Amino acid sequence: MKVPTIEKSIEYINYAKSTNPGEWIDHSYNVAIAARSIANECSDLDGNIAYVLGLLHDIGRHEGRVQLHHTVSGYNFLMKDGYEDAARIAITHSFVIPDIRVYGGKSDCTEEEIMFIKKYLNKVTYNDYDKLIQLCDNISLPEGVCLMEKRLLDVVMRYGFNDFTLKKWEKYLELRDYFSNKIGKSIYKVLEGVVETTFDFDYK
Ligand SMILES: [Fe+2]
Repeated sequence: MKVPTIEKSIEYINYAKSTNPGEWIDHSYNVAIAARSIANECSDLDGNIAYVLGLLHDIGRHEGRVQLHHTVSGYNFLMKDGYEDAARIAITHSFVIPDIRVYGGKSDCTEEEIMFIKKYLNKVTYNDYDKLIQLCDNISLPEGVCLMEKRLLDVVMRYGFNDFTLKKWEKYLELRDYFSNKIGKSIYKVLEGVVETTFDFDYK
């Protein structure tokens, strides 16, 4: 697969942290850790690849406070170095349903970028890495990994509802069940700190 090494991906995230520091960096590390923990339980997935894909899914945010545009900028950032399989995640992680209208934030893309996303979503068939990062993105807060329902609420509180919100929630819950079935136990059994983060035990 065309993905950077762990060392290279940390170099990228450190660069992005220098241009746009914020909670999204901790969130990205938590997605990476969660993805690796689940992938390690799957015979057909590689934990290190999952870690890299998780760490870089939001890399488009290196440009600053961007919304829909972060998918295209992340794709371009990774494609310029030939990392095709990491670049696809920069797009697919935001579309649990392959339809541009599901994006919850505001559209800050050019017409050309919107056309690009639409075409991309039309031709893509999600593999288990796409699904894994979609799942892990939706259980990962900056503070740690939590119960999915808490993270879904967190996203809606920041970006609001749209006509696709309920459909998206159903899809995310399906992904949770898909991976729980795949590994033969609840995904939460292989993730650390879920209870503490969900109930905010470190609340100050
Ligand atoms: Fe994310």
